[in-house]
Amino acid sequence: MSGEAKLAPSLDELVRTKRILVCCGAGGVGKTTTATALAIAAARAGRRVLALTVDPSKRLSDTLGVAQNLEAPAPPPADRLAAAGISAPGSLEAWMLDPKLIADRLVRRFSRGEAEAERLMQNRVYRQMTRMVAGMQEYTAMEALYGFVQEGRHDLVVLDTPPARNALDFLEGPGKITEFLEGRVFRLFLPDENAGLIARGAAQLVGKALGAALGDDNYRELQSFFAAFAEVFRRGGANAQAMRKALSDPEVTSFVLVTAPTSVAISDVLYFRERAEEMRLPFGGFVLNRSQAREDARAMPDPSLLPEGASEVQRRAYAKLAAMAEVERAEVARDRALLADLSARAGDRGFALALPSLAGGADDIASLVLLASAVVES
Ligand SMILES: Nc1ncnc2c1ncn2[C@@H]1O[C@H](COP(=O)(O)OP(=O)(O)OP(=O)(O)O)[C@@H](O)[C@H]1O
Ligand SMILES: [Mg+2]
Repeated sequence: MSGEAKLAPSLDELVRTKRILVCCGAGGVGKTTTATALAIAAARAGRRVLALTVDPSKRLSDTLGVAQNLEAPAPPPADRLAAAGISAPGSLEAWMLDPKLIADRLVRRFSRGEAEAERLMQNRVYRQMTRMVAGMQEYTAMEALYGFVQEGRHDLVVLDTPPARNALDFLEGPGKITEFLEGRVFRLFLPDENAGLIARGAAQLVGKALGAALGDDNYRELQSFFAAFAEVFRRGGANAQAMRKALSDPEVTSFVLVTAPTSVAISDVLYFRERAEEMRLPFGGFVLNRSQAREDARAMPDPSLLPEGASEVQRRAYAKLAAMAEVERAEVARDRALLADLSARAGDRGFALALPSLAGGADDIASLVLLASAVVES
């Protein structure tokens, strides 16, 4: 054995060996795209993969041909799998859940008509409930994630995290739900046989007021809803611990931090790294998405192309091209510098990989396969 520090595994290696990969990053940097590309790369390499997202994008659903909010994960149709170059023993399934949609649906179910739904959504208790249901979806996804890992039907689960919020928060979801369950508002709602006289009196008062506001039937339904979920979460407490443990285990899990080549996205991703470290979540590395860092084979205009005695029009056209090429060159140089910086920050603890910016976007199978190949070549 040499005394050198062991180099961190490349993203390709992680895709081939880990059981859970979590993609985190700021809004719009390409988390969903990267997560899907990683899932495809792993399935192409022969692994049985589940792509799990609590940020369902309509685009992804269309691209993969898998509907959102299904009861259970489902594979894309055979022609998409073939187009993605996925064949046995490799396989791919996707599960896309939209927490907000499910919460809204629940609220609508508890109400008669649109006007009442609107009124209910303004209600403080309902807002609490919706928040809980949103947290519950994350919790459900987390529990599902753990269930899938335990079950062993998949070799790898790739988890994409939701947009526009701190993506690491969802890891604290179970804790937040426990807090909520123990909160005063929630307890007033539960039909608690053992409650003291005062608590029961208060609950009755709240019950009366809510019964009047929501209608007695609605109120009772809501109460049984709370009671049912309280039970589910109480039972789930032990799993939450085990899940957290699996997510913290570097043998099992790697966090892939995705960023775009902008200074805002980069500072966000560095913050994620810090948070992940504080939370003792295993750092896999950085993905610099939509980057030009690898664009070294690009044709650039060359003044010798200009014919002898070129016309004024030709010369002006060339000057325009040259100016555009200069901008591109500057972008390539900027992205290379960013990649070098990320690489230095990752040190020997993680990878730093650039994924190309595809001119036509990344919303079809062919583009995702291109990105998946870029992972493998890393
Ligand atoms: N490497 C790429 N080349 C070209 N287009 C890309 C690339 N990566 C992502 N995109 C495009 O950028 C858009 C945003 O990507 P994506 O949905 O993956 O981001 P996200 O981080 O998941 O966003 P959100 O925070 O909203 O969930 C999509 O339209 C996608 O096709
Ligand atoms: Mg997304």
